Amino acid sequence: MILEVDLERKRRNFRVFNERGGKFRVAIVNVCNLNCFFCHNEAMVNPRRPGEDPNGKVGPVHISLDELLGIINAFTSRGGGQVNITGGEPLAHREIVRFLEDIDKRSTRVVLNTNVILADRLLNRPRIGNLDSIYASLHTTDGEIFRDQLGGRSISKVMDNIVALKTHGYDVQINYSLGDYNKEEFGSVLKFAVRHGIDLKAITLVRPNEDPDFYRGAWIDPQWISAQIEATGARVVGSEDSLGGQTTTYAIGGMTVKVKNIARGRLETDFCSGCTYKEKCGEGIYGLRVGIDGLWKPWLLRHERFRSVTQEESYESQILTIIDEMIGSWENARFLTGVPA
Ligand SMILES: C[S@@+](CC[C@H](N)C(=O)[O-])C[C@H]1O[C@@H](n2cnc3c(N)ncnc32)[C@H](O)[C@@H]1O
Repeated sequence: MILEVDLERKRRNFRVFNERGGKFRVAIVNVCNLNCFFCHNEAMVNPRRPGEDPNGKVGPVHISLDELLGIINAFTSRGGGQVNITGGEPLAHREIVRFLEDIDKRSTRVVLNTNVILADRLLNRPRIGNLDSIYASLHTTDGEIFRDQLGGRSISKVMDNIVALKTHGYDVQINYSLGDYNKEEFGSVLKFAVRHGIDLKAITLVRPNEDPDFYRGAWIDPQWISAQIEATGARVVGSEDSLGGQTTTYAIGGMTVKVKNIARGRLETDFCSGCTYKEKCGEGIYGLRVGIDGLWKPWLLRHERFRSVTQEESYESQILTIIDEMIGSWENARFLTGVPA
């Protein structure tokens, strides 16, 4: 009887997670051809940071690509809303195309998060039907910022590839991570997006560690971006409180710009009780992460709540249990406001 009640609650919380836009982020590789100073690396040890992984460039690998495929397919078969394939840089994985094609997507949205430097891997072949959307990172149009803060070589190649992926038939959204380092660049990223009719989403940097200098400057309130968008005469067409925070949607020309403002609202649930990072939290309850490091990560900062993927229990059962812990009693969930410390 207790088990049945338990399972019923877990299923209900899985529904809440998906209906409220919870993200399931699967990091299939821990290699990247950039080195963004702010990268949370989906909570994996970052081998590109001296000291984090002194042993190598790839980072620890604990589970195989096929095991990750099994995990994703468990999520889709339960009716999960969206899975984001991420990394590291997922296009750097030699088997990326085979992997995307092997997902049993059912009704789940499949999104690829990428810096698009290796877009040729998708452009040299017909469009992959399983892929609903590509979220392309574009944080600047300035070559120097791209080189000095993100470790890249050619920002014009990135912009060309974004346009080429759209022309190839993919639904593309630009992801812009806002900080002191690139706030003056928002205008030109927006202009690029509008010129090519590509939707844009702006989020502010989320703290993945306790480094006092993490933001490399001030924490920038996304309100700053909203003011710039509103100055263009853009209309607000929507606003939602979802897992991960409050998002306002603007219409500009034929495309949309979403601004996620965690200072206006980020989700606190039972999972957060006793958490010592509350003041610093820039993400709230947002999504479940898993990766080739073989760890389930319900949140970025609380490493003590990470746990190993096990073969002793079905993937579906593990997913249900962790999401249940993240959501807790939904009546207790609330959106916190204020700037993270
Ligand atoms: C971790 S990356 C991995 C996928 C791929 N390499 C890319 O660039 O999209 C996924 C997205 O998370 C964003 N991101 C990483 N760390 C972040 C942080 N601390 N705060 C806000 N966004 C972050 C990146 O800018 C990128 O848009």
